[in-house]
Amino acid sequence: MTILDGKKISSDIKNEIADQVKIMKSKGEKVPHLAAVLVGTDGASMTYVGAKVKACELVGFESTLIDLPEKTTEDELLNHIYKLNNDSGIDGFIVQLPLPKHIDDQKVLMAIDPDKDVDGFHPTNVGRMTLDLPTFLPATPFGILELLERYNIETSGKNVVVMGRSHIVGRPMSILMSQKRKAGNATVTVVHSRTNNLAEITRGADIIVAAIGISEFLKADMVKDGVVVIDVGITRVPDETKTRGYRLAGDVEFEGVSKKASFITPVPGGVGPMTIAMLLKNTLLARERQNTAK
Ligand code: GUN
Repeated sequence: MTILDGKKISSDIKNEIADQVKIMKSKGEKVPHLAAVLVGTDGASMTYVGAKVKACELVGFESTLIDLPEKTTEDELLNHIYKLNNDSGIDGFIVQLPLPKHIDDQKVLMAIDPDKDVDGFHPTNVGRMTLDLPTFLPATPFGILELLERYNIETSGKNVVVMGRSHIVGRPMSILMSQKRKAGNATVTVVHSRTNNLAEITRGADIIVAAIGISEFLKADMVKDGVVVIDVGITRVPDETKTRGYRLAGDVEFEGVSKKASFITPVPGGVGPMTIAMLLKNTLLARERQNTAK
């Protein structure tokens, strides 16, 4: 069994990006600038946004954090987005999800200029992805493709089961892996909360992408020997033996499933760090595109 080391691969990618930033600087070019908008005080979102800003520093990008209170109105948030759209110093930006309940996510995502939408969530970019056109791929699926590619995991003709149909992970993952691409050409099945005989379907999978948000849902008796397992889940499970009072768990019961798997991602240290690296990659791409658009 091989651990798919997202921490190491993401570090390699960040080093590659840092090298490119050095070249940009040496030519006197503007370095990429990412902005992140955070609304409210959700603990996990604050952690993720903090990690994204820190990663920018590490590779030599500029970054701006727009930290807004929970009570921010939809109009106020939209105003911030219009400003970022029109700020030529900002190459790309993200609005961290989930947003407070009084704000309509879709309305906000649709207000982002597709050329600065480094999360790849705008309908224009989702459409472009679906049609195989150049775009920003959403960071988590993009990171999973990169992980599969860098470990030379064969996906062509394989049975891939994507667990979950979220707009951020499951849906794009299922589209991308069925496309003609290196980590693609797979026969993809999407399973979700309404699926009958779910374990029968996962037992037929060569590769499983678990993204349902239920901790340790995928058990050893639901997979076949030699399966490749990508665990996207990350949940805080109460654990009194830990000083912080919780441990992080994925959607996969790692102990049992890892005994049958040929490759498996750990949680933490698997998909999570890849997501951040690919967001940086998209921001670099956004900067390069702004350059060529001039
Ligand atoms: N919330 C969970 N994952 C993501 C992500 O990739 N981007 C944003 N903006 N919010 C998220």
